[in-house]
Amino acid sequence: MKFIRFDPKPCGFPKPRISPLPNTPLLPSPSAWLCRSIPRRASRNFRHFSRGRYALGEAYRLAGLNREGALLAPAYHCVTMLDPAMALEAEVHLYRLQADLSPDLDALEKLLASIEKPVKALLATHYFGIAKDFSRLKAFCVNREITLIEDCSHVLFTEHFRAAGTGSYGHFVVSSPYKFFACDDGGLLYTPEDHLLDRVKTVPATPVEELRGIKHAWERSRSARIMIGDISSIDLRLESLSACPVVPGNDEIEERSAPSALFSGALAHRESLRCSRLIVDQSSITDNMRRRRENYHRWLEAVTRISNCQTLFSDLPEHTAPYMFPLYIAHPDPHFYWLKHLGVPIWRWDEMADSNCRISQDYRLHLLHLPCHQALTSNQLEWMITALDKTLNRSSAKGFQ
Ligand SMILES: Cc1ncc(COP(=O)(O)O)c(C=O)c1O
Repeated sequence: MKFIRFDPKPCGFPKPRISPLPNTPLLPSPSAWLCRSIPRRASRNFRHFSRGRYALGEAYRLAGLNREGALLAPAYHCVTMLDPAMALEAEVHLYRLQADLSPDLDALEKLLASIEKPVKALLATHYFGIAKDFSRLKAFCVNREITLIEDCSHVLFTEHFRAAGTGSYGHFVVSSPYKFFACDDGGLLYTPEDHLLDRVKTVPATPVEELRGIKHAWERSRSARIMIGDISSIDLRLESLSACPVVPGNDEIEERSAPSALFSGALAHRESLRCSRLIVDQSSITDNMRRRRENYHRWLEAVTRISNCQTLFSDLPEHTAPYMFPLYIAHPDPHFYWLKHLGVPIWRWDEMADSNCRISQDYRLHLLHLPCHQALTSNQLEWMITALDKTLNRSSAKGFQ
């Protein structure tokens, strides 16, 4: 399979100044804690893994995916969504998406007709926590005996809570609790038909792994603070950045049939840490959701005033817990480069399997994933917004690319 990758090594980006994922647990008040501390019995409909990618791998395997079969996956993706299918040596076909990242059903129909191997599974993603209506997609899969795997990796979906409009379409549902809670790991596999999980074997983490997880969680919670002075120094920093030429990253093409380095066969059956599950179980969902929504709205309100960008989802539906704030920028060169050098925490899916989906090709370098998680402080958010505002308003001496 052909992958297109942006290698940032020559750019020399510093570490982000703010954690892209939650790094301090939001625990309930002591009285709420007392009411909740009775451990709840693990449901038979769930299996815990260390990451969503391994839960996905199990879902693919249960769907019958192997070297004789094919997976339909969205053209806009992170490589960890494809890795587990590649580990099974399955064929992967990418289906086109529309600008709001919903599947293009007409294109999907045509793609399916062109595939020779039996298509065993289709992966459908609720990007950034915004629930999509997959009812037509579900009918499409049911009519063709394709297993629908609902990707809730960007959704607040735990054993005891599922965000509205999600988790009810898939034969299997997969989520990544570590993206929503300040824990070291977590990947969840759910199916309404619990007997399907009877033969899923997982192994518990060792005590050393548990201790390492606690150490990581503690280290992450100690990230540096953003001070008022940091906001006023953005101008100066941008001045010196824009006076120097942008050092381009390497745009690479890689042909490979094996999973990426982000997939480890050794971790495929390892359960998530007990301390991670405890953090998820004891965290306040209401506060998590409220803070994420407030932060998302702060981003929304800010970007209406900022030029050269627009969000993908300007409407945050009620009861939605956003994962990150998706922002389309008009000029990644030089803006992405400057923002990264300022230390703004940005994720971007700039390594992707090649497809004929125009939207995904465009989003690969233009769509930024910005944090809106519950552990952000007001200063951190203000610093990110100011950095974005000042950067996107500036052009380099040679103009935009
Ligand atoms: C939409 C989506 N699905 C699945 C995955 C895999 O999840 P995990 O990181 O838990 O392995 C990711 C990873 O970022 C993702 O963004």
